[in-house]
Amino acid sequence: MTIGTSATEIAVVTLFPGLVNAVGECGMTARAVSKGCLELSTYNPRDYTTDRHRTVDDRPYGGGPGMVLMSGPLDAAITDAVANIQSQQRVQVVYLSPQGQRLEHRLVCELASQPMVLVAGRYEGVDERLLQARVDREISIGDYVLSGGELAAMVVIDAVARQLPGVLGHQDSAAEESFAGTGLLEYPQYTRPENFQGMQVPEVLTSGNHEKIKLWRRYQSLERTWRRRPDLLENAQLSSEDNLMLKKIIKAARPNGSSES
Ligand code: ADE
Repeated sequence: MTIGTSATEIAVVTLFPGLVNAVGECGMTARAVSKGCLELSTYNPRDYTTDRHRTVDDRPYGGGPGMVLMSGPLDAAITDAVANIQSQQRVQVVYLSPQGQRLEHRLVCELASQPMVLVAGRYEGVDERLLQARVDREISIGDYVLSGGELAAMVVIDAVARQLPGVLGHQDSAAEESFAGTGLLEYPQYTRPENFQGMQVPEVLTSGNHEKIKLWRRYQSLERTWRRRPDLLENAQLSSEDNLMLKKIIKAARPNGSSES
């Protein structure tokens, strides 16, 4: 590990380090690691057990199905993970759980500015006292139950990594994509060939007229957001030109002024 690193440090406490490490070995997150923008490490609670069987779970008090992760090994793994983070900033301990705060763009940006230890649970859950004693916040990636927090931790890592300065190839990519900056969905993209199975690339995109392309893309962003995620329009930063465009979009979709799309 580098001393005095300026990378965003993320440690993951997990029983499946191989799964989590894979996120640092492929694609954009691998680039973030190799560029020194992101530092990833994993800590396996099984390595902090003291018994012959390396036990990390036990039956729930009060009965019921399944097993619960014990506090001791998780606590020791978190302590080691926090101690090995070089940053002088406070380390946030985050537990991935369907009961947590829903992950969305604003939260991703907030997380990107600080070092953290992500704790991935397994089985029926984690001893509540461990959460009380060690966890600062719980984060959910959606209203469904995964068999463990690893995939959720990987989602957090990927989303955070693309917000780190210097990670994305094009300087504007993070600012232009859906939810960033303006809070709108992204316009559609096309690449070669110009004709795919009889479907032509919109003419404006091959016109070379950058002003027209910009307007067309803005129109597409607004229309997509209005059709697919109208809830986003409430908080989007819209200029007066955007509002005019939006009126045009709605009028085109409802030529008789009907209230249905
Ligand atoms: N662990 C299990 N399900 C989860 C979810 N939906 N979000 C975050 N962590 C989880």
